Amino acid sequence: MTHPLTLLGIESSCDDTAAAVVRGHQVLASVVYGQTSLHADFGGVVPEIAARAHAEKLDHCVEQALAEADLAFADLDGIAVTAGPGLIGGVLSGVMCAKGLAAATGLPLIGVNHLAGHALTPRLTDQVSYPYLMLLVSGGHCQFLIVAGHDRFERIGGTIDDAPGEAFDKSARLLGLPQPGGPSVEQAARSGNAGRFALPRPLLNQPGCDMSFSGLKTAVLRARDGVVSLKGGLTAQDQSDLSAGFQAAITDVLVEKTRRALDEYLGLAPARPIFAIAGGVAANSVIRDQLQTLCRRLDTEFIAPPLHLCTDNAAMIAYAGIERMGAGETDDLTLSARPRWPLDQRAAPMLGSGKKGAKA
Ligand code: KG4
Ligand code: ZN
Repeated sequence: MTHPLTLLGIESSCDDTAAAVVRGHQVLASVVYGQTSLHADFGGVVPEIAARAHAEKLDHCVEQALAEADLAFADLDGIAVTAGPGLIGGVLSGVMCAKGLAAATGLPLIGVNHLAGHALTPRLTDQVSYPYLMLLVSGGHCQFLIVAGHDRFERIGGTIDDAPGEAFDKSARLLGLPQPGGPSVEQAARSGNAGRFALPRPLLNQPGCDMSFSGLKTAVLRARDGVVSLKGGLTAQDQSDLSAGFQAAITDVLVEKTRRALDEYLGLAPARPIFAIAGGVAANSVIRDQLQTLCRRLDTEFIAPPLHLCTDNAAMIAYAGIERMGAGETDDLTLSARPRWPLDQRAAPMLGSGKKGAKA
């Protein structure tokens, strides 16, 4: 038997600087430095600030990951790095760091698509076999992928405008709830009446698996303004009812579109049907529970990797690198950073895929 590959992974495509060491399916170390506080005053990720912070933190992250794994460069088989898509300054910081390390150590360099990192995570955590259906749902992305190989992704639907996490964040802002909006809206919704406000389910009755969430956010704005003009402000109960209505609308759309995506996937007659979810919105327990119920009904295994591996991290990059290297694929020092890099090159470009853009 060949020994499992051990790779260092580096991730810096948005606002998390991360390094990890993975051996086979085992995460030996995973270090993530978030930048949330650096961008807090600006209402979004500032690319220039992000790139500088990555450049400052990358070396420390790599050192810390190796120390935690108790390994030296000589123990590694290669270095995997996110080469896109993402904010170009951040991606460049990571790629330059990885190239420097590869040149100095002579280790092979492997460029990884950040979205492939997310999409292959269920193989790292649960060793699932191909093909499986994946819903990647975060602050910047929302897409259904049929994953048929480490470089074979078919996108069968996605958002045409905002991503759900972004809609949660914007709705929280409208309701005066703290950021990030997902957890605070979920919390407020617990004591809310989802039926008090009739909020739309955009594209629910359109065929296919595409989704739209920007109209929903506008509907929350109108409903809020209606209450404010009547009472002069929002009570905690109003916040809860609006949160519950909003969360129910998002959940209904995700569940119905997942049902259709599963229909298409199950048509491939996979031996062991699997539906996996990743991204920050996968933390929402109402969404998670309803998707799990749907899967149970359709005899499909539901997989939700632990949250720290669902959100941005470098273990998923190291693992995707292991799959590429295992297939005999490596890059050289001409590897370039790609701000745009769709996983499914054949799919028609989406109108939008989350206005936070680069965060995937
Ligand atoms: O995957 P992630 O950490 O970063 C992105 O790639 O965007 O996801 C962050 C997003 C944020 O928009 C956040 O509000 C959302 O995930 N989120 C949630 C929950 N926890 C985080 N959305 C709904 N419910 C939650 N419990
Ligand atoms: Zn991501």
